[in-house]
Amino acid sequence: MPELAVLRSPAEVLFGSGMAAAAGGVAARHGHRVLAITDPVLAATEGYAAVLASLREAGLDVVEFTDAAVDVPMTTIDAAATTGREARPDVIVAVGGGSAIDLAKVTALLLAHGGALNAYYGEHMVPGPVLPLIALPTTAGTGSEVTPVSVIGDPELGMKVGISSPYLIPRTAICDPELTRTCPPSVTAHSGIDALSHAIEAFMAVTRRPDWRLPLERVAVGKNAMSDVLALAAVREIGVNLERAVADGDDMAARSGMLFGSLNAGLAFANAGVAAAHALQFAIGAATGTPHGLGTGLMLPYVMAFNRPEREPALAQLAAALGAPEGDAVAIVHDLGLRIGLPARLADLELGEDRLAAMGEQAAGITRLAGNNPRPLDAHGCTAILRAAWHGDPSLLAERAAA
Ligand SMILES: NC(=O)c1ccc[n+]([C@@H]2O[C@H](COP(=O)([O-])OP(=O)(O)OC[C@H]3O[C@@H](n4cnc5c(N)ncnc54)[C@H](O)[C@@H]3O)[C@@H](O)[C@H]2O)c1
Ligand SMILES: [Fe+2]
Repeated sequence: MPELAVLRSPAEVLFGSGMAAAAGGVAARHGHRVLAITDPVLAATEGYAAVLASLREAGLDVVEFTDAAVDVPMTTIDAAATTGREARPDVIVAVGGGSAIDLAKVTALLLAHGGALNAYYGEHMVPGPVLPLIALPTTAGTGSEVTPVSVIGDPELGMKVGISSPYLIPRTAICDPELTRTCPPSVTAHSGIDALSHAIEAFMAVTRRPDWRLPLERVAVGKNAMSDVLALAAVREIGVNLERAVADGDDMAARSGMLFGSLNAGLAFANAGVAAAHALQFAIGAATGTPHGLGTGLMLPYVMAFNRPEREPALAQLAAALGAPEGDAVAIVHDLGLRIGLPARLADLELGEDRLAAMGEQAAGITRLAGNNPRPLDAHGCTAILRAAWHGDPSLLAERAAA
């Protein structure tokens, strides 16, 4: 019996090959002036050119900001907001991976409400609607095209930080697998395993009692009946297609499966939330500068192993969704990560073991994420997960659970 179900999503999700050409018609509903946001690599792609052509064919005035940067540095946010204030757009169109779409979200926020960005850090801090945003993902992916989250780099904190509000959900997500065709193998691998992390962390998230206050107080409400459907659908797609998409970027069936998988995973975690793997990656990313998905994907099997005592039935369902009903989901995910080229050990990131305790403390302090983990997660637990990953051995956590 479903006890709790929550779904917040874009007003419209358009998925399919060639769908990018709808961007102009969709944007024209919001007015005449468009701010198009992308990064320098994508600005040179055919996919972005197709989106621009569609906007211009619809008779729209387009101002471009093509300097989005990986991990959304504050200097880039300032530059995009300045361009936006001059352009006074009616709508923002973002073409890119999580970095460009997250930049577009905070630009839409700053153009609507102004002020300093740190006033909006955390959950439910955005005071009202932001500029309408149309998001076209080029990775499969962060799911940012459907999520209420923007993750940005704040140099003063020395760590990335999230702004999470239903007002940040893009108005329309246009998911065209053709836009992901040029995505290089390493980005395909990292963003693809990140999508798997979203689905699995949402499926294993904490369960909260249904209460009318819950969605008003929290953006991420925890594991629920709606996010479970979406998470399992995502795991099935990603399990079948990730390795294929990494091996052959022109395999459009695999690209399409991955984009549909990351879309479903995004919708799942947009409502359920993510947990330990993402909290730990905030600390790993700050220490090593590794790509987001490399870190979340590397931590994922260890986090699953840590959570096993609380989530044995969920792990069995995940193994079935991954095509091995008799298998162990932790081992399947660990092997998949190695096959797509993730490092075997956290130690391979040139990180000394002496730094793990401080990183564990840092991760446990991100209560928005740590508090969403099904097994209580303190600095001790975070450090145990990091230590097992540092040695490259998930079974170290099995022993801990049994102890
Ligand atoms: N908002 C959310 O819900 C959410 C969720 C997860 C992660 N994130 C954030 O998203 C960011 C990571 O995003 P990402 O993994 O999508 O990567 P990205 O946007 O950082 O892009 C990585 C690199 O890949 C290139 N690239 C992307 N698509 C390409 C394509 N189709 N062809 C050629 N090159 C391409 C980019 O130019 C860039 O150099 C991180 O900042 C992370 O914190 C956000
Ligand atoms: Fe992620």
